[in-house]
Amino acid sequence: MMSSVSPSTSSNSPTPPPKSHIPPPPPKPYTHDGVTYPSKKAWKKAMKTVKWEAKKIKMKEEKREEKKRKREERGEKDMGEERSEEDKIEAKRRRDDKKSQILESRASSAASSFNVVIDCGWNNVLTSKEKKSLGKQIAYCYSFNRKQSSPVWLRLSGADEETKKYPGGLEGFPARWELFEETGDLKGAVGGEGKGFNVDRDKCIYLTADAKETVEKLEPGYTYVIGGIVDRNRLTNATVDRATDLGVECRKLALGGGVLGTKVLTVNHVFEILCRGRDGEWGEAVEKSIPKRKGGHGEEEK
Ligand SMILES: C[S@@+](CC[C@H](N)C(=O)[O-])C[C@H]1O[C@@H](n2cnc3c(N)ncnc32)[C@H](O)[C@@H]1O
Repeated sequence: MMSSVSPSTSSNSPTPPPKSHIPPPPPKPYTHDGVTYPSKKAWKKAMKTVKWEAKKIKMKEEKREEKKRKREERGEKDMGEERSEEDKIEAKRRRDDKKSQILESRASSAASSFNVVIDCGWNNVLTSKEKKSLGKQIAYCYSFNRKQSSPVWLRLSGADEETKKYPGGLEGFPARWELFEETGDLKGAVGGEGKGFNVDRDKCIYLTADAKETVEKLEPGYTYVIGGIVDRNRLTNATVDRATDLGVECRKLALGGGVLGTKVLTVNHVFEILCRGRDGEWGEAVEKSIPKRKGGHGEEEK
């Protein structure tokens, strides 16, 4: 009897490879505008590159035009034409003039306002870690003051090298810091009539959470002293004693109905409240200055 043989197993006809193993046909060359590309796909790719390059050139051109327009608005000459040395000097002079006008107007606004001293007469009682934190808080105060349209004079009295280490690492400290002055110990300045920095004893208020009376309104020409202390409640009444020693009044800030977790604030938060509360809107000033984690609505320091 003959056995039946299926076609696929017949040894005479070769098994066709599975479809997936069939190599694709080689791409056909494609000719466009007299140029032959290896394939239509290659042509499309080349067109895309050409379009992108053209767009880049257009964008560059637009940017150049925009710059030129702005320069013309400022009354400067086209950079394309080689700017003469004189033109460059003139442009720099104009920039410097504008800068010094801004500085002058800020300085005159500060001179007609109150001023603030951060009193660092606590060098012997603060730890190195506390001095490092204080250094950062001093820098926050300076940076906040710089951003104000109506800044105040900020002075740092009697700080030692350890406290100045952090701000000392920042550009321009202290000589080129605007509306900032480093002075000797506050005791020498209060009631003094010497050449340098003097404070009128009757117009000086030491700020302290331990005071009985509250600051109502910030007075122009007055000096408000913030204790340069980071003590985590270790040094209670230290500032009241210091105020007595200096012979000046002390006052606390009006912090409202106990929304904050603490009545003792950091140096920079007190400074911010002073700058924001100059019109007597203490509630808003406190809310904006104290960060959320402490019960306010302010931003965290970075
Ligand atoms: C961290 S506190 C130091 C607390 C310190 N035990 C003391 O005797 O002042 C830093 C400074 O911020 C000011 N300060 C803090 N909370 C204040 C408040 N509620 N009212 C007024 N000034 C405050 C004070 O000048 C204080 O010295």
